[in-house]
Amino acid sequence: MKNNLLSIYIHWPFCESKCPYCDFNSHVLKSISEQNWVDGIVHELNRYKNILNYQGIKSIFFGGGTPSLMSGSSVDTIINTIQKLWTITEDCEITLEANPSSSEASRFQDYKNAGVNRLSVGLQALNDKDLKTLGRKHSYQEGIKAYECGLRIFDRVSADLIYARPHQTLDEWAQELSSILQYKPTHLSLYQLTIEPGTLFENLYKRGDLKIPHDQLAYDFYELTDQMTSAQGLRSYEISNYAVSGFESIHNLTYWNYQPYLGVGPGAHSRLLMGTDYPSSLQSYHAIHQYKAPLTWKNSIQANSHADASNIALTPVEMFEEQIMVGLRLKKGILKSQLIRPLNEQEHSRYNHLIKENYAIETDDRLMLTDSGRLLLNSVLGYFLNTD
Ligand SMILES: C[S@@+](CC[C@H](N)C(=O)[O-])C[C@H]1O[C@@H](n2cnc3c(N)ncnc32)[C@H](O)[C@@H]1O
Ligand code: SF4
Repeated sequence: MKNNLLSIYIHWPFCESKCPYCDFNSHVLKSISEQNWVDGIVHELNRYKNILNYQGIKSIFFGGGTPSLMSGSSVDTIINTIQKLWTITEDCEITLEANPSSSEASRFQDYKNAGVNRLSVGLQALNDKDLKTLGRKHSYQEGIKAYECGLRIFDRVSADLIYARPHQTLDEWAQELSSILQYKPTHLSLYQLTIEPGTLFENLYKRGDLKIPHDQLAYDFYELTDQMTSAQGLRSYEISNYAVSGFESIHNLTYWNYQPYLGVGPGAHSRLLMGTDYPSSLQSYHAIHQYKAPLTWKNSIQANSHADASNIALTPVEMFEEQIMVGLRLKKGILKSQLIRPLNEQEHSRYNHLIKENYAIETDDRLMLTDSGRLLLNSVLGYFLNTD
């Protein structure tokens, strides 16, 4: 059954407030009828079961937005639906992203009872001043309490932190990182702050009112993060992800290894083989996007019995580019034997140039980037795929 396994992503698009750095598909609504949204997700899962040939599910990920605003019974309904429709592997990873307010922490046990076995807590910063700058609703104390509560309830807990923040020094980051490392975490997602289009931070940045580290300082932040985490036994396995061996996220590895996944919920996307319905494209992934605006998504289910905004069979060129873009994020890189196709002559020559410049490595069986290459990922990919 190994080759026939699928990962499922569920997008819950609602938040209590919008953080000024965030460009995820998240919306602040005064009130929602939770059941209607759960019904929509259940509808889409049933519909996909009928048009897909995958047998088993190896991971489920509740992301957002803020899925920890959902009740335990809504999470239970969705997991139950998936269990009824497909076989869940014995070690199926079921993750839920949680914001660390006290009201959300009070639901952690309900999530565990519903079948969630991995919690990802969005701490983002470990001091009140920076939590405020990031527009977070929780305090330092609340964040730590929620994280400790997560650790008591779940065997697998990850925490998200954003570093290289405005005015943050290397020393301050070292202190924050060591305070989380005291908990001996098995998984951390540590993101350098990026200025995303359409966010409040982008406006401030363009006006010169927000400064973030560039070039050498950004590299120093990255190196310090790498050194401190590896000293604690957490291996950097992807640009922003660190894990004790065996605790890597099965779900996120699905994306980076370019394996199939189904995304359900407003703005969710999928990469799926749909051989039965599309006999001419047996070996092509279908890239499917669901409607992004929550109300359009919900209305489309009522009016059209589905919420897909687009469904396109990818060409081999597109699949190759996507595989390179996601696979080179991994420290281990890409197994050559799993490439959609071997490199052509020009790609070989550009890859050799990257090797000479110390941005890339080629072993007998893998293509991978060096630390410097991964830090300059976008430029390296632009050069290699000739899309600059
Ligand atoms: C879907 S988001 C957040 C989930 C959850 N609602 C929360 O706020 O904790 C997933 C993660 O992406 C990271 N992230 C979002 N925007 C970012 C940005 N502009 N720069 C760096 N990291 C970012 C944050 O660490 C966040 O926890
Ligand atoms: S960072 Fe999380 S809480 Fe903040 S707007 Fe984005 S999804 Fe919502």
